[in-house]
Amino acid sequence: MSVFNRLVVGTLPLVPKPIVRRFARRYVAGDSLDKAVSKVHELNAQGAMATLDVLGEEVREAARSREFTEECVRVLEAIDREGIDSNLSIKLTMFGLEIEESLAHENAERIVARAAELGNFVRIDMEDRTTTDATLRIYRDLHQRYGNVGCVFQAYMRRTLADIDDLPAEGANVRLCKGIYIEPRDAAWKGYETVRRNFVAALEKLFRKGAYVGIATHDEYLACAAVELIDRYGLGREEYEFQMLLGVDEELRKVLIDGGHRMRVYTPYGREWYAYSIRRLRENPEIAGHAAKAALGLS
Ligand code: FDA
Repeated sequence: MSVFNRLVVGTLPLVPKPIVRRFARRYVAGDSLDKAVSKVHELNAQGAMATLDVLGEEVREAARSREFTEECVRVLEAIDREGIDSNLSIKLTMFGLEIEESLAHENAERIVARAAELGNFVRIDMEDRTTTDATLRIYRDLHQRYGNVGCVFQAYMRRTLADIDDLPAEGANVRLCKGIYIEPRDAAWKGYETVRRNFVAALEKLFRKGAYVGIATHDEYLACAAVELIDRYGLGREEYEFQMLLGVDEELRKVLIDGGHRMRVYTPYGREWYAYSIRRLRENPEIAGHAAKAALGLS
């Protein structure tokens, strides 16, 4: 990473919003559900499935958490009406997890129950470590009662291999990713290669357990290791999927689809695009560098 790009990552919050928006467009389907639905039509035509995500985190008022819940129900109904190949991803802090666990539980249940009626599936994203236990509690309860819900494990967390042991063996559907939040060293592995190693160990453990895994990465090394494990375990096309974020490494996405693997693209939309985009730009200092140069009138 160049010194300029490293500096830029630290100063991203100073870049004017309209410029961030220009560079963030690739990561977000748009402001509205209509735009998100047309993006999913586009992805489906390219041979990819989608998981829709309504942007917004850390809701602090119960009324707002219920509004987001109803928006998610509208998403599930739009998927059904439009006949598009997509499920839904949700973040529990949007449904009141930081207000009261029971509120997030109730809101998540409303969404999962509606998804069950429509024959769809809900993925509960994993957020930072302060939310892990509550997220897994809510996931386990809803999984037991409805079935059509999955959780996420983060390969950088030291607890992940033990969490996989506690996973119900029956019908588990897990997304495995590296993890995006900044965690202290006593909670998370820090080395780049160490996280990769734990990712592969976790993936193998999940396959051994018979879980359906959404292999969520853009890291070609991990995609290759996953393909090798899929082959070793003799898994059929319907027994796992790859997952990638909208706007990231479309070439690798195509390589995997052309290789016969199922691919799901995480497709966020909504008015609260700014925090999400800043996180994505932080992961890609090159694009963040272009954004900063534009802000400084250098490009
Ligand atoms: P890595 O970061 O090493 O990137 C590999 C390659 O991809 C690099 O070349 C890199 O430049 C490129 N790349 C990565 N991000 C990019 C970007 N934004 N723009 C352009 N290039 C980029 N995390 C979490 O904590 N909880 C969750 O619930 C989820 N959910 C989730 C769903 C899906 C479908 C994905 C793909 C990812 C997540 N994540 C997540 C995020 C995940 O934990 C992780 O931070 C990112 O996927 C980056 O990790 P990679 O495995 O891609 O490796």
